[in-house]
Amino acid sequence: MFPAWNPAQHEITDLIVRHEPHSLRRLPVRKQDVLDVFSRFHNRQAERAVLGIPDSDGILDERDVNALLLTVHWEMQRLAEEFYHGHRVWNILRVVIRSMREVGIRETLRVVDVGCGIGYTTRWLATKVPSADYNIELAGMDLNSTLIAEANRLAHLEKLECKFLTGDAFSTEHSAHIFLSTGVIHHFRGEELVRFLRQHDRPGTQAFLHFDFQPWTLAPVGSWFFHNLRMRTRIAGHDGVSPAPQGKHEWPAIVSAAIRSRIRAASPSDGRSRTLNSTFSIPACSRFP
Ligand SMILES: C[S@@+](CC[C@H](N)C(=O)[O-])C[C@H]1O[C@@H](n2cnc3c(N)ncnc32)[C@H](O)[C@@H]1O
Repeated sequence: MFPAWNPAQHEITDLIVRHEPHSLRRLPVRKQDVLDVFSRFHNRQAERAVLGIPDSDGILDERDVNALLLTVHWEMQRLAEEFYHGHRVWNILRVVIRSMREVGIRETLRVVDVGCGIGYTTRWLATKVPSADYNIELAGMDLNSTLIAEANRLAHLEKLECKFLTGDAFSTEHSAHIFLSTGVIHHFRGEELVRFLRQHDRPGTQAFLHFDFQPWTLAPVGSWFFHNLRMRTRIAGHDGVSPAPQGKHEWPAIVSAAIRSRIRAASPSDGRSRTLNSTFSIPACSRFP
């Protein structure tokens, strides 16, 4: 296996940004600490990408990191556009909304895009879906204020009816009937993933839709191909290429285990595992890599 494909290691973007967990204040990141992580995995590609980030006195320059993250997210948006990702989300979301209406939920449904980045999915939905007809409210949340500022700027330019907020989507001051995400859950490993999923178990939350790699043998090859074809920054060329952190069968098992531990997944009636299973049976080629 190529060192960059070793799923035990975090992605570069997970390591070059750190927040104080409660205030979400950005914390300084030592370049050498990040380099040490990748050096342990002999991952020269990641080391080169990190070495290219400016620093002062060994601390990564926050402004450069933010600028880099914006570029990376723009590149991811381009890939999402090419893969008709918005359509894919809406095709499933509208079924979930319909089944919630069928069981008598009449209130305005709050749909929260967890880790929305610059908000492509939410902006796409706000452009294409008449929120008033479906009685939904669209919001994107991210821990990173720079990405949220960009999401708000773009939404404002297009006069879209959606909100973007900096913060932890699972914090108690926020609520969601439906959580969705794109390219987020592969950032979590083992217990972290279980913890992420457990946070969906909260009053009012009825469903979640998480879009990410299908963990299977050819996923890294396909992902590598599109990243090389499309991504220009070294970081975007590296992150998202490694296979999902869990093996082919472990990931669905972790999700099911988390659901058994009382997450209300999918539709609120009988459809917990039904919707989940249908998500996992979508052919790999129709997934956002
Ligand atoms: C790879 S980016 C997501 C990209 C974005 N969804 C897209 O499609 O372009 C992962 C993001 O998840 C955010 N994140 C992780 N956990 C979060 C949480 N609990 N609440 C809000 N944002 C979160 C991180 O700050 C990071 O920006």
